Amino acid sequence: MGFHEEVNATEKGKRPHPVMLTHLLALAAHALAEADNRPEPKDLWKEPINATLWKPCSDQRDWKASGNISSSEETNGYIIISANGGINQQRVAICNAVTISRLLNATLVIPKFLYSNVWLDKSQFRDIYQEDYFIKYLKPDIRIVKELPLELQSLDLEAIGSLVNDTDVMKEAKPSIYVKKILPILLKNRVVHFVGFGNRLSFDPIPFQLQRLRCRCNFHALRFVHKIQETGALLVERLHGHMPHLSPLQDNLLGHFAGKSIPSGNRNESSKYLAVHLRFEIDMVAYSMCYFGGGKDEEEELEMYRQIHFPALTEIKRTTKLPSAAFLRSEGKCPLAPEEAALMLAAIGFKRRTSIYIAGAEIYGGRHRMAAISRLYPAIVTKETLLSPSELEPFRNFSSQLAALDFIACASADAFAMTDPGSQFSSLVQGYRMYYGGGDLPTLRPNKRRLASILVKNVTIEWKEFETRVNKLIQQTKQVHERPIARSIFRHPRCPECMCRTDN
Ligand SMILES: *[C@@H]1O[C@H](CO)[C@@H](O)[C@H](O)[C@H]1NC(C)=O
Ligand SMILES: *[C@@H]1O[C@H](CO)[C@@H](O)[C@H](O)[C@H]1NC(C)=O
Ligand SMILES: *[C@@H]1O[C@H](CO)[C@@H](O)[C@H](O)[C@H]1NC(C)=O
Ligand SMILES: *[C@@H]1O[C@H](CO)[C@@H](O)[C@H](O)[C@H]1NC(C)=O
Ligand SMILES: *[C@@H]1O[C@H](CO)[C@@H](O)[C@H](O)[C@H]1NC(C)=O
Ligand SMILES: *[C@@H]1O[C@H](CO)[C@@H](O)[C@H](O)[C@H]1NC(C)=O
Ligand SMILES: *[C@@H]1O[C@H](CO)[C@@H](O)[C@H](O)[C@H]1NC(C)=O
Repeated sequence: MGFHEEVNATEKGKRPHPVMLTHLLALAAHALAEADNRPEPKDLWKEPINATLWKPCSDQRDWKASGNISSSEETNGYIIISANGGINQQRVAICNAVTISRLLNATLVIPKFLYSNVWLDKSQFRDIYQEDYFIKYLKPDIRIVKELPLELQSLDLEAIGSLVNDTDVMKEAKPSIYVKKILPILLKNRVVHFVGFGNRLSFDPIPFQLQRLRCRCNFHALRFVHKIQETGALLVERLHGHMPHLSPLQDNLLGHFAGKSIPSGNRNESSKYLAVHLRFEIDMVAYSMCYFGGGKDEEEELEMYRQIHFPALTEIKRTTKLPSAAFLRSEGKCPLAPEEAALMLAAIGFKRRTSIYIAGAEIYGGRHRMAAISRLYPAIVTKETLLSPSELEPFRNFSSQLAALDFIACASADAFAMTDPGSQFSSLVQGYRMYYGGGDLPTLRPNKRRLASILVKNVTIEWKEFETRVNKLIQQTKQVHERPIARSIFRHPRCPECMCRTDN
């Protein structure tokens, strides 16, 4: 394979990671230099016109049709959840819990977050979200309390059968399952604790007002704590070169920190930025079983990582014949490397001087691998480069809070590109941009399988053809349509429960 690039300098005695696709990268560099003085493609920072037909409306309540429980003190019991995963899974879990509490006429206890040894963050609900705002905002919908009543606190929930785990309620369970299996426990014991609760509630079928409540929770009831909002506002201000304009999006993300003037030497009303979520951390890379051009060193390093962190995978690999790395790549099953992301952006027409915010944790291959993208796009920034060490310090040990800062920067970006359409973070950001964007906040979502089928020709393809084919693929994913049945309302809120069409 003749596409490795050997570079001499090494960090910490390790050999640098060779970059793939050097031929195409050279063509891209040339094309970007040539395009410098040409105008940008006219729809680069835009969504199709009919995106403006959808307006947020999940804040509108109409419980009359389906009964009215909130004002009464009556409750069928208390629901506790312990959400697993990182901040994004937690968010989904919270809103599913809100929905189920309403369905069962139950009182919700402020959700708890399980400590995960992947995310290593002890943050609880109140460290990330405004607790009182959440309770108050949802008051017409459900009753939420901070703690279980004293008389229930001493119960041994496991012994009385009130602990419910993933085995008891399957993934994306229908509401009727909850009524059938959970309600009796609730009525008998007055309390149910869901442990490891996540995506346990189906998207369809579900009553209209309950779906709307789930949207309301995600898009309106959850607000970051002031500490996160304030630093998020600082990030957005530095990215835009001016303070964030007050808009429904900024109001939701930044609260009163939006529109507040923070002295800044560099005000430029016209500066746009692109945010990119590069999901290329070592866990993702190792888990994918793909090959990224790094030869024996890479293979050994990733195998070692798998042995430590994914022993089950190592075991399967030993005993079963798995698809080859080349096959996985051709099927679009590999995370996009930074160089692949850079090529995609160049093909779409982003200029060399575009400001690009990179979200995500440590990129596998580090600075060296990032060089491939920064050679094409020198104006790359991250939260680590935009914020001073002392501004970052309060967040340093809290991966969820750092992810919240990335969330704010990506949701506020003039354009957002993801490299992994399966990522929960990217999905939530996309949903936010759809909901609050008014048709002005485009999201670029590659079809990885089709992109792989173009990239496999990297040695022979001409730049023009590469550009044409990538653009076609991106245009298709930009199309505006209603949420397909059973798809996530968090990722795709364009549906009557969450957003209202203004043309009928
Ligand atoms: C429903 O609740 C509202 C207050 O949230 C109250 O004004 C109204 O009377 C209630 N309706 C019924 C039918 O109980
Ligand atoms: C919840 O309360 C409403 C209104 O009182 C009632 O119609 C519904 O049957 C109750 N559901 C459950 C599961 O208790
Ligand atoms: C889930 O609960 C059931 C009993 O309801 C128990 O048999 C099972 O071991 C539990 N599973 C986990 C993963 O804790
Ligand atoms: C604002 O930024 C654009 C592009 O970065 C630049 O061309 C323009 O000169 C800047 N304007 C001011 C007033 O700084
Ligand atoms: C972060 O964790 C390290 C090691 O556990 C500790 O020394 C440091 O004080 C912590 N910093 C903050 C801001 O909590
Ligand atoms: C680049 O082309 C070579 C030769 O056809 C191929 O083996 C390799 O998989 C391609 N790289 C990518 C990232 O698709
Ligand atoms: C938006 O327009 C495209 C074509 O321009 C069409 O295919 C699509 O169905 C439209 N979507 C909606 C929701 O009207």
